[in-house]
Amino acid sequence: MDNTAPRKVEHQQTDRGYVPVYATGVVEQPWESYTRTDHEVWDTLYKRQRELLPGRACKEFLAGVERFGLGDGGIPKFSELNKVLGETTGWELVAVEGLLPDEVFFDHLANRRFPVSWWIRKPDQLDYLSEPDLFHDLFGHVPLLLNPIFADYMQAYGRGGMKAFAIGPEALMNLTRLYWYTVEFGLINTDEGMRIYGAGIVSSKGESIYCLDAPAPNRIGFGLERVMSTRYRIDTYQQTYFVIDSFEQLFEATRPDFTPIYAKLKSLPAHAAADVLDGDRVFNRGTREGFATDADT
Ligand code: PHE
Ligand code: FE
Repeated sequence: MDNTAPRKVEHQQTDRGYVPVYATGVVEQPWESYTRTDHEVWDTLYKRQRELLPGRACKEFLAGVERFGLGDGGIPKFSELNKVLGETTGWELVAVEGLLPDEVFFDHLANRRFPVSWWIRKPDQLDYLSEPDLFHDLFGHVPLLLNPIFADYMQAYGRGGMKAFAIGPEALMNLTRLYWYTVEFGLINTDEGMRIYGAGIVSSKGESIYCLDAPAPNRIGFGLERVMSTRYRIDTYQQTYFVIDSFEQLFEATRPDFTPIYAKLKSLPAHAAADVLDGDRVFNRGTREGFATDADT
């Protein structure tokens, strides 16, 4: 990130009453402070993804993009989007400066609040950014919050996060992998073909193409313990994508109490990001071409 970029706001008190900002990370979206360039960056990124994603993103995602009117021109106002969310799945967007401490993030999700970074990347960062900005958080994550099952999954994840946080760092790592391989980088197998639902993919032009078209990565059927025990890359496109059959499948697979699963996984070694295992349902065995050989996260 460009550290010199002016992106400070007055940390204001929220209408949830006296909640210290450090406890929730919530600020008011400083909509008036966006520059022409900020709005143009949004419009450019929006247009690029909107043209690319039909036939690549799942229909639930594309329906959400349309419903919110994310392409109406310029950076959307969270207050407007919240009207739509409020009358559908009851989620609420809250503006934040950036990544939050785990337990704060989980608390937001558990209460159906989705934290969105209010600031947007600079024009020279259209293709890559090392931390989530407005485009990733909003365009990537928010459309699926209109899907009732996915909306419930996100809340369940938040509740599960509080629990994993209390159990310990290994449990938290298992749960974080689940988030990574579903919410951020998930693929879904539909009657029309393989589609994207992960926010990290739909907000990236390069990975929106790579994840479906490239021969290098594995595409493997989703399995709860399989995913929770697989390391991942944060610095390159994924080496493996996990494919769900439906949001119902994802929701049902994650419904059981994870406590015994955490205990079991604790004594087992994690798999490398690029591994294909016996018992995997392999949609595509990747060629691994161009893969980094150093350690995964
Ligand atoms: N069922 C999980 C648990 O008991 C909670 C969870 C639900 C986690 C959905 C992630 C996604 O911890
Ligand atoms: Fe994200």
